[in-house]
Amino acid sequence: MRIPLIAGNWKMYKTPDEARVFCERFREIYKDTDVQALICAPAVDLSACSDALKGTDIMLGAQNVYFEKEGAYTGETSIDMIKALGCGFSIVGHSERRQYFGETDATVNKKVHAALEAGLHPIICVGESLEQREMGVTMELVGMQVKAALSGVSAEKVRKCVIAYEPVWAIGTGKTATAEQAAEVCTLIRATVRHLYGARIARSVTIQYGGSMKPSNAAELLAQPDIDGGLIGGASLKSGEFVEIINAANQE
Ligand code: PGA
Repeated sequence: MRIPLIAGNWKMYKTPDEARVFCERFREIYKDTDVQALICAPAVDLSACSDALKGTDIMLGAQNVYFEKEGAYTGETSIDMIKALGCGFSIVGHSERRQYFGETDATVNKKVHAALEAGLHPIICVGESLEQREMGVTMELVGMQVKAALSGVSAEKVRKCVIAYEPVWAIGTGKTATAEQAAEVCTLIRATVRHLYGARIARSVTIQYGGSMKPSNAAELLAQPDIDGGLIGGASLKSGEFVEIINAANQE
């Protein structure tokens, strides 16, 4: 069965010292649960986080990686670099990267392949803008994003992928998708994976919801059968709130 995955996405917040303080506090209040807890920290904070979380089962991830193994790519971070700091996951194709840094379905697909090749779990972000939702193209668009991200990925490897449905209009806005809206799209995502890889594999893929998830709405969202976890921005920056969401997932 799928184990809930609650992932924090710190975005461009916290210096290494602030990250260390967070992790020290977090490990004190975090209780061992049946939920997988993951922190996706800025690359420069990973070393501090990995030191401060040693001996716990709290996992670490990056927010982005480059698809080439190494080379003249100023400012980029390689998969080997983040793996050396203890990361088992990386977010790929977050809407902020698509919007501000030119990430496309094609680069997302390359990153998914590179991550899987290196044994890293990609958290593939998909989701529609408000305009696209109002135009009524959400389902087609998300289905296409999922297909493009997984293009050429083998059935054996796709099980290692996490897919996060993050409606762009719900990210950082305080406007959460209703449980019904989130469930509808997450079910479509699983149906898309089923169509591509069959029912058994579709059942094993972890699908998250992200977009203003917080302690007050986490339980209802996580109770939906096709929502296996959350990708949490703002509410993952405070250890108390993040723990509350993990505890809510543990009840489901
Ligand atoms: P938010 O961000 O929880 O602050 O809306 C979610 C995300 O961007 O992953």
